[in-house]
Formats: sequence, structure tokens, C-alpha cells
Amino acid sequence: MVRQHVNPLSRFYQLPRPLPAPAELFARAELPLHLDIGAARGRFLLAMAQGEPDWNHLGLEIRRPLVDAAEADRQALQLNNLHYLFCNANISLEGWLAALPPGLLQRVTIQFPDPWFKKKHHKRRVLQPELLLAIAAALAQGTALFVQSDVLAVIEPMLAVIEASGCFERPDGDARPWRAANPLPVPTERERHVLAQGLPVYRVLYRRNGLPPPPVALLEQRLGETLEQSPEAADNPANRQVSP
Ligand SMILES: C[S@@+](CC[C@H](N)C(=O)[O-])C[C@H]1O[C@@H](n2cnc3c(N)ncnc32)[C@H](O)[C@@H]1O
Repeated sequence: MVRQHVNPLSRFYQLPRPLPAPAELFARAELPLHLDIGAARGRFLLAMAQGEPDWNHLGLEIRRPLVDAAEADRQALQLNNLHYLFCNANISLEGWLAALPPGLLQRVTIQFPDPWFKKKHHKRRVLQPELLLAIAAALAQGTALFVQSDVLAVIEPMLAVIEASGCFERPDGDARPWRAANPLPVPTERERHVLAQGLPVYRVLYRRNGLPPPPVALLEQRLGETLEQSPEAADNPANRQVSP
């Protein structure tokens, strides 16, 4: 049986796992790369890889049995523009992103991340400031970061850290506070489940701007100031303008 959640802060999941470079994962490593963080059983990425043969797709997942099952599907279909890797994205991804050839990473998706509702568990959430900065450093100007969730209390802190970085903007004309539709052609498993129940999904598509990522201490200071100055606004970052 696959566990529903694992604690990413437990000792086992804190061990760094070296991730193979794109040249070891894909037949045509030079193709634009889409990274899906928290890929679960991988069906979203499997369909994306079939629909976008001129992209490479990499799914990261902390529950190993799901990665093994997703890899078996990929091999059965002989897809060479798709791969799944077992790792804790908060531990193993930063160095891998820093070593990517410039311009390769063109899309990052973080969809329906585990909520970890209790305040004392917020450090288990996947989009921590360090990971956001590593993503920002690896994405070239104009490329995409797409986030979605059915839980406001989860997506709002994600928007807060993305926007406090100053590295991302919403495309002109995008609906606020939330996009009505998914910009990608394939819904995730969780998304299908939520939509089938008639529940709302909160989505934002960001584009990387040309500004350099700030040091992590500055990002954390900005987040703290946001909370201090305007607790109400901080409670609802979806309503804020993107930082210039
Ligand atoms: C609620 S599921 C959503 C799965 C999928 N994105 C979807 O929308 O159907 C979140 C997934 O993220 C994975 N996850 C949580 N923390 C992670 C981490 N630090 N690194 C990699 N994967 C993680 C979980 O194991 C889980 O499979």
C-alpha cells in the first residue's frame, strides 16, 4: 500500500539524492524542459509527454512506489521524452537546477501540493523560499511557473513567496485573482477529482521576468514585512499586484 503522505523532514527524506543530468534522462536532452514537482502517480505528465513530443518532461515525487509505477508506464509506452525521479525536491533539486544548461528549463508546475494545514507543519510544504529562488534562478526570462490548488490556505502562501521574490509577473490580461482555466491541456489527477465534485480550483500562471533572484534572507525579510505591515493583504496575496 502506498502511504498517503510522507514527512519530508524525517531523516530518511533529508538524505540528498544525486539526480541524473538531462543528458542521462532524455533521448534529445536539448529539448525545452518541463519540471513537475510532486508528480504523484504521473498520469498528468504521461499525457503531457505524449501531447508535446518536442518537450522533455520530468516529474519529481517523494513517494517511491508512485515513481516506480509511473516509470513502468513510461517504459511500456517507450516514451523517451519523459522521466520520473524519486527525491525530496527540497533537498535534491537545488544543485540539479543550478547545473542545468542556461535556457533549458522552460516550465515548472506545482499542482495541488500537500496542504500540511497545522502551522507547526508548514515547513513540510514544498514551496519553501529556497526552492522558489532555485527555480527562479533556473528559469529564463519569459518562461512559465504554473501553480494550482483547491486549498486557499495553501496557494496563498505560495503566491506570497513567488511575488515577494520580485522575479515573476502575471501575463497581461490574465484574470485576477485566479485564472478561470488551466493553461495546460491536461488536468492532473487531483484536479479531475476536485472538479468532479464541483469545487473551485485556484490557479495562477506566472512568467519569469528579467530580475535577478534576491538572497534568501532578503526574500524572508520581505515576507515578514508583508505580514507585519498589512496582515489583511498578507492573508490574501491573490489580490496584490505583482512586485515590479
Ligand atoms: C496532493 S499530491 C498532488 C499530485 C499531483 N500534482 C496532482 O495534482 O494530482 C502532492 C504530491 O506531492 C508529493 N510531494 C510532497 N512533498 C514533496 C517533496 N518535498 N518532494 C517531492 N514530492 C513531494 C506528494 O508525495 C504527493 O504525491
